[in-house]
Amino acid sequence: MANERTLVLCKPDAIQRGHVGEIVSRFESKGLKIAGMKMLHVGEALANRHYQEHVEKAFYPQLREFITSSPVIAMVIEGDNAVDVVRALIGVTNPQLAAPGTIRGDLGINFTKNLVHGSDSTLSAQREISLFFDENELFDYAMTIGAWL
Ligand code: RTP
Ligand code: MG
Repeated sequence: MANERTLVLCKPDAIQRGHVGEIVSRFESKGLKIAGMKMLHVGEALANRHYQEHVEKAFYPQLREFITSSPVIAMVIEGDNAVDVVRALIGVTNPQLAAPGTIRGDLGINFTKNLVHGSDSTLSAQREISLFFDENELFDYAMTIGAWL
C-alpha cells in the first residue's frame, strides 16, 4: 500500500464540453478519494509554473493559450498508488492514440484538447498540489467504504 495524492485538472475543454461530472465519476468509481476540489482561472504565471518543464518547448505557446482560455477544475485525488492509477485512467497524451476505456481515449479530441491533467510522479504531484492548493483546502477524512477499497 502506498497512499498517494495527485493533482488532477479538468482542463477548459472538459468544462466547456460538459464532461466534468463524468471525469470525476471515473475517479470515484475506481475507489479514489477526493481530498480537495475547486474552480479557478489559470493565469499565465500559474501556467508557467505548472508546466515548468515545457515552457521552452515549441508547443508551449499553444498549450498556455489553451490552459488559460477558460476556467479549470482542480482536484487532489488520493488513494493507493494514486499517481499511476490516475494516469492509467486518463490514458496517453494523444487522445487519438489513447486506449478506449480511458478518459482521453473515450472523450478527448486532440493533443492540446485532451481534457484532463494528472501529475506524472509523486514528486511532481507534491509540487503541483502546492501550486494549486493551500494546506487548509485539503481534507483528511475516513470513508465508510474504506475497508472495501
Ligand atoms: P498533462 O501534463 O497535461 O497531464 O499531459 P501529459 O503528462 O500526458 O503530457 P505532457 O508531456 O506533460 O505535456 C503536457 C501537455 O502539453 C501538450 N503537448 N503537446 N508535441 C506536442 O505538440 C505536445 N506535447 C505535449 C499536451 O496538451 C499535453 O497534455
Ligand atoms: Mg504532464
